[in-house]
Amino acid sequence: MHLLGTRDLARDEAINLLDIAEDMAAVQEREVKKLPTLRGKTVVNLFFEDSTRTRISFEAAAKRLSADVINFSAKGSSVSKGESLKDTAQTLQAMGADGVVIRHHASGAPHTLATSGWIDAGVINAGDGTHEHPTQALLDAFTIRRRLHGAASRGRGLDDVRVVIVGDILHSRVARSNVWLLTTLGAEVELVAPPTLVPVDTAAWPATIGYDLDAALAAAPDVVMMLRIQAERMHAAFFPNSREYARTWGLDDARFDRLPGTTMVMHPGPMNRGLEISARAADSPRSTVREQVANGVSVRMAALYLLLSSERGEA
Ligand code: CP
Repeated sequence: MHLLGTRDLARDEAINLLDIAEDMAAVQEREVKKLPTLRGKTVVNLFFEDSTRTRISFEAAAKRLSADVINFSAKGSSVSKGESLKDTAQTLQAMGADGVVIRHHASGAPHTLATSGWIDAGVINAGDGTHEHPTQALLDAFTIRRRLHGAASRGRGLDDVRVVIVGDILHSRVARSNVWLLTTLGAEVELVAPPTLVPVDTAAWPATIGYDLDAALAAAPDVVMMLRIQAERMHAAFFPNSREYARTWGLDDARFDRLPGTTMVMHPGPMNRGLEISARAADSPRSTVREQVANGVSVRMAALYLLLSSERGEA
């Protein structure tokens, strides 16, 4: 069993994972430091791209389930000598990996690892190129559900919740995973972006596309999710003028002040403060940025449990 994306996740599978994450959060809120669930299992964090939140929260999640953790970063490894993904993965498997959490700059790398037969381990996609970032979308859905329904969250989807996702959709695996997952859970999703940062295939996505941020915000959405401008994936010639971008597409103080008090402000991080989001919006009580990070541990504990727990039998 693997977790490669949200596109093929069924509603009941997604709700089950979110409910298990609620159980994990409840255990942590009781200040139980560790569960014995994955004792004897080894999780490898295989990161070919930089990460702060995802790598550390997978490590924390695995350790809270009593798994052993091996952290691999391509920087400083034999990847710089030309070692392939296959040989790298098989080297780590030889050290006893039961689960592999992979982040890779190439879209599809986790799928290749899961289906190639190179290794015999559960694979979790921790972000591949511009393709998918399923655990980010799951922690976003978990955060929205908790804010809206609190203790009554279990068993619920996100029916009729209105979400506006704003910014660099073109390069965003977070946007893709959220579009599939949030709509599977019943939400309505509107994407708002400069025309140059809208992927060509969005006609096939279950979301509407808009180009007027003020109009989208005037409709009082339940959630505004701001995306990072991913300069590292852009040719310098296509990088938008920062001041112009902030004025037209940023959640600045003026736009934030016009939002209804009930609208939650999300950002997956890392943030470009002053570009896509103002510091005041990012740090306000309506911002879920820190909750998203905290919830990421519970969601990743649930994902590791579902993939690796021998109590569930081998999937
Ligand atoms: N949101 C997210 O994936 O952050 P990192 O790149 O720090 O893991």
